[in-house]
Amino acid sequence: MNGMDEGSLRTAAEMLSRARRVAVLTGAGISAESGVPTFRGAGGFWRGRSAMDLATPGAFSRDPEAVWEFYRFRIAALAGIEPNDGHRALAELECRCDQFWLITQNVDGLHRAAGSENVTELHGSLERVRCRICSYRCASSDLPPEAVPQCPACGDMLRPAVVWFGENLPDFALVAADEAMRECQVMLVVGTSGLVEPAASFARMAGSRGAGIIEVNLESTPISHVADVSLLGPAGVVLPSLVELTG
Ligand code: OAD
Repeated sequence: MNGMDEGSLRTAAEMLSRARRVAVLTGAGISAESGVPTFRGAGGFWRGRSAMDLATPGAFSRDPEAVWEFYRFRIAALAGIEPNDGHRALAELECRCDQFWLITQNVDGLHRAAGSENVTELHGSLERVRCRICSYRCASSDLPPEAVPQCPACGDMLRPAVVWFGENLPDFALVAADEAMRECQVMLVVGTSGLVEPAASFARMAGSRGAGIIEVNLESTPISHVADVSLLGPAGVVLPSLVELTG
């Protein structure tokens, strides 16, 4: 079923009303209306370089200054952004469920800022930095000012506490995501292109275990063919309508 027509919206709302255990997977699209650029859209470029080329351990080893310049820009940009109605609708949905898991690929902290509680950040967070080598961590707001900040504990380079391409996801995040996929009765997939593993296969896993899948996106994605309902439209509009109808 396709389109943000009344019928699709009602079908999705009925699925959600019947579910006591709900999982949500979000991607960059949910934060687009807060002004955070997505990765694969036109906004996914920074000074002519693809954001995806800078978000790798190789780029950091080769040119830590450029990678830090990019991340300082992203960290600074967080100060001016706020959750939108889509984030807030998911926080409200959590209150209505017996069990709720929000698994996000985003590193902007906006789900927690909107009031969501059981949030798993698959790709880490821009709100923290860590040492490349030792266990030192601190808040991004306490970042030393040098172009390439050094670890006060061991002197190696500090880096953003995010997961880069080619790196493993944290174990605790995979455990939480696995529990969500096994236990949920309905899974909402919001604003992700569905191209990056393992997040891309979460909907397939949940679906094969019998969960209903609802997708919210501006356009069709590789996840659309496993979705029971695809709601095409901006998350900041679709999610509040959906949660309101869920009652
Ligand atoms: P992408 O930039 O790949 O995809 C964003 C998706 O959001 C697209 O499918 C858009 O159609 C959709 N979208 C855009 N605006 C929307 C809106 N207002 N409402 C609903 N949908 C909207 O971002 P992700 O799928 O999150 O990983 O990318 C996954 C991962 O790849 C990222 O976490 C990042 C990236 O490289 C790492 O950095 C490790």
